[in-house]
Amino acid sequence: MPDLPHSPAADRNKEPILEVLRCVFGTRGAALEIACGTGQHAVFFAAAFAGWTWQPTDMESDLFPAITARSAQAGLANVLPPLRLDVLAPQWPAPPAPAFAQPLDAVYCANMLHIAPWATCSGLMRGAARHLAPGGLLVTYGPYFEDGVPPAPGNLAFDESLRARDPSWGIRRLEDVADEARRAGLALRERHALPANNLLLVFEA
Ligand SMILES: C[S@@+](CC[C@H](N)C(=O)[O-])C[C@H]1O[C@@H](n2cnc3c(N)ncnc32)[C@H](O)[C@@H]1O
Repeated sequence: MPDLPHSPAADRNKEPILEVLRCVFGTRGAALEIACGTGQHAVFFAAAFAGWTWQPTDMESDLFPAITARSAQAGLANVLPPLRLDVLAPQWPAPPAPAFAQPLDAVYCANMLHIAPWATCSGLMRGAARHLAPGGLLVTYGPYFEDGVPPAPGNLAFDESLRARDPSWGIRRLEDVADEARRAGLALRERHALPANNLLLVFEA
């Protein structure tokens, strides 16, 4: 799909993420994606999980036509039309948006927490806790710093460049993210180390 907006990183990381999702997702379910960007992950995972409906959302709507085109090109009926969703909003889109009419099985969010103010972490955790079914999963993916783990030089440089672009951005400390999750009622269940110094975290409602 060469004409559609495209993130090379999303193409590189989608397979390793899928490998983990295959271990944690059941055969059927409803997933809400936060900060979907180009929609590459939405389309790739919806194709891999035919028994799931996938609701892509993002704070910005400029890439929504590309997401719709991407899922139409892939012939997918299980990708719902993208919705605007800012995790900082006190209420996330209400029914009749189908993905919000019933408790969700999964909320998925890749590469947002470090490219957004820290308050988005609490917004993500609280929103996920409001919308997940008991036992439902929040999956986050991206770079983190961890206590007792020497930071990768690449992540230190990335963190510096993020903070130079916007002082409210920056790579988050896993322990701080897990604390926000706990406060919202979510428990960190799994930590998977993925290529390029990224982690996939699984939280449970
Ligand atoms: C680096 S992109 C990640 C896109 C995609 N998830 C990926 O991994 O390729 C960060 C995304 O976070 C979104 N974002 C930033 N702040 C947000 C917020 N408060 N609520 C929802 N999305 C937000 C941006 O609009 C952008 O699409």
